Amino acid sequence: MQSLEVERLFSGLIGAEYDMLKLICPAVVEVSQKVGDTFATWQAGTPLTVFELGCGTGITSLSLLRARDDIKLTSIDNEPTMLEQAKQHLAHWIDTGQLRLIETDALSGLKALPDESVDVVASGYVTHNFLQGYRTQVLQEIFRVLKPGGAFINGDLYALDDTLEHTRLIQEEVKFWFKAFGEIKRYDLLEQWIVHLFSDESSDHIMRLESSLVCMKEIGFSPVNVLYREGINSLLVAEKPKQ
Ligand SMILES: C[S@@+](CC[C@H](N)C(=O)[O-])C[C@H]1O[C@@H](n2cnc3c(N)ncnc32)[C@H](O)[C@@H]1O
Repeated sequence: MQSLEVERLFSGLIGAEYDMLKLICPAVVEVSQKVGDTFATWQAGTPLTVFELGCGTGITSLSLLRARDDIKLTSIDNEPTMLEQAKQHLAHWIDTGQLRLIETDALSGLKALPDESVDVVASGYVTHNFLQGYRTQVLQEIFRVLKPGGAFINGDLYALDDTLEHTRLIQEEVKFWFKAFGEIKRYDLLEQWIVHLFSDESSDHIMRLESSLVCMKEIGFSPVNVLYREGINSLLVAEKPKQ
């Protein structure tokens, strides 16, 4: 049986120099912005309580906070190195009282919330890191904590269902990483990101689109819409039906 232990994949060099991700995956910034753009018009006119999973250094949090003023955001991450950077980047919103940062893992953070207490759960490039069983539990908890009519807005890496085409895409990506990190002679970071990629691509973790949509629908989300898909970079909105 698969372990549900919480992994810490951003504790080393990757976390300390997370900004370098923009070099090898500029889509992170673009899709994180799309999370904010989608949130900007979600239930417009109603102040929203938002719970963000895996805020990292705050890229996705910033897109949410800039999207609208009527937001109360709680952002969690289980990696202190990342949270420390978020604290610095998002100091303004911590001061205004609109943002709370909490060190905890996604599942524990969600389990601590009451039923139907959150308007939106958001995340950017987080859930693909999870072990399959842990991810299913996280999705079940998201459904539980959302108010009816609420939504999970997730910008993330959803693997292609065409496995051959997926492998080809990943091979192209790895070639690009060698070029990008090679040019600045950062083979130490290259090594760490390749190791990380092995984890993301393993059968224990890989998050394919079709099975993810099925899983969300089985949990009760409806509709579940893919608003953006460019390669594996995707934006999904999964709604909890109004009763
Ligand atoms: C790729 S980063 C994305 C960060 C941020 N959302 C962004 O758009 O830049 C993934 C983040 O998720 C966090 N993370 C991974 N697994 C987690 C878990 N089980 N619970 C909470 N945070 C987790 C990592 O520590 C890391 O900060």
